[in-house]
Amino acid sequence: MFTINENYLKLPGSYLFSTIGKKVAEYQAANPEKPIIRLGIGDVTQPLAPAIVEALHKAVDEMGKAESFHGYAPDLGYDFLRHAIAENDYKARGCDISEDEIFVSDGAKSDSGNIQEIFGMDNRVAVCDPVYPVYLDSNVMAGRTGVYREDKGCFDGVIYIPCTEENHFVPEPPKEVPDLIYLCFPNNPTGTTITKEQLQVWVDYANKNGSVIIYDAAYEAYITEEHVPHSIYECEGARTCAIEIRSFSKNAGFTGVRLGFTVVPKDLKCNGTSVRDLWARRHGTKFNGAPYIVQRAGEAVYSEEGKKQLKEQVAYYQRNARVIYDALKDLGYTVYGGVNAPYIWLKTPDHMGSWEFFDYLLDKGNIVGTPGCGFGNCGEGYFRLTAFGSYENTLEAMERIKKL
Ligand SMILES: Cc1ncc(COP(=O)(O)O)c(C=O)c1O
Repeated sequence: MFTINENYLKLPGSYLFSTIGKKVAEYQAANPEKPIIRLGIGDVTQPLAPAIVEALHKAVDEMGKAESFHGYAPDLGYDFLRHAIAENDYKARGCDISEDEIFVSDGAKSDSGNIQEIFGMDNRVAVCDPVYPVYLDSNVMAGRTGVYREDKGCFDGVIYIPCTEENHFVPEPPKEVPDLIYLCFPNNPTGTTITKEQLQVWVDYANKNGSVIIYDAAYEAYITEEHVPHSIYECEGARTCAIEIRSFSKNAGFTGVRLGFTVVPKDLKCNGTSVRDLWARRHGTKFNGAPYIVQRAGEAVYSEEGKKQLKEQVAYYQRNARVIYDALKDLGYTVYGGVNAPYIWLKTPDHMGSWEFFDYLLDKGNIVGTPGCGFGNCGEGYFRLTAFGSYENTLEAMERIKKL
């Protein structure tokens, strides 16, 4: 008789967004005339920019001719894309990252879930609380944690780093030293971020203690403030302790196209073994390359036209973020995020629980958001709204909140 990976059984109940989906479907079935505005899931709504569409068309045409057809892509990504990434995302920012340290993939979710595979099972894992659930769940599935404690709302064997109002949602290095540290800035779900000096503290801590930082910069394009680092490699010493994960989903609307990449510097070593080489081995064995068509679309993200159009696209969502932030502030809500990120993290009014506020907002305002407690214990009493809706819906949602 076969057995299963029992680590999967440690994962509690249903996934946050399925619970939300179920609640919204029930509400809509009971109130079919109510127009619901969805500001919950972090999915983009604007169509692909013209430069991207053009690159996709061109690549499709190439695929239709014998002389320009492409089969399997190189494991680590096409040189043209890795070159564009190295030049634009790193060299242009003064970061020392070379093309052969960049691994193209089908998105940041896969990479942030898979990266743990190349580390030992006895590594202690630290995540922020609240957190993007993939970092934690992928380590649970791998067996790197103990059981889930329903009463405490956390897994045994995990180091949770609280991100609260008191520390301005900037995690502090924990006393108990972790081996793997997941950081995400600009942050999902809080929409807050970290200064270069604060990130340098983490890099120094990791180098001193022999830890690895897995740095998720999926929302880098939303940074508006000067002192906020776009990459962890802006910090001194990051090449020996940090892996960076990036996505094309939020800067270029690729949520349905699928493209991302991970940077593993050659200087990151464990007793002489190159972590970069391990990831190359893993990538080459388990991933058969992102599609040629999609990588050409990714290259167009860095063309002059692409950059111009995507700046406008990001600015569209940034304007939504500003609308939400300002409207809630004017109404007296305590609000965070929104300045360097497409997420607004608000404190629920009158000490309502996160789910209580979810039900209230759905029922009275017909607006869907995400309960903060779905991202961890420290998210209780908070609520996430996203700037990824249309401008019109965002304005309408704020009008409705004013009338609550
Ligand atoms: C922090 C973070 N990382 C990664 C992802 C997933 O990115 P991708 O679409 O590239 O898989 C998301 C998506 O919401 C995210 O919030």
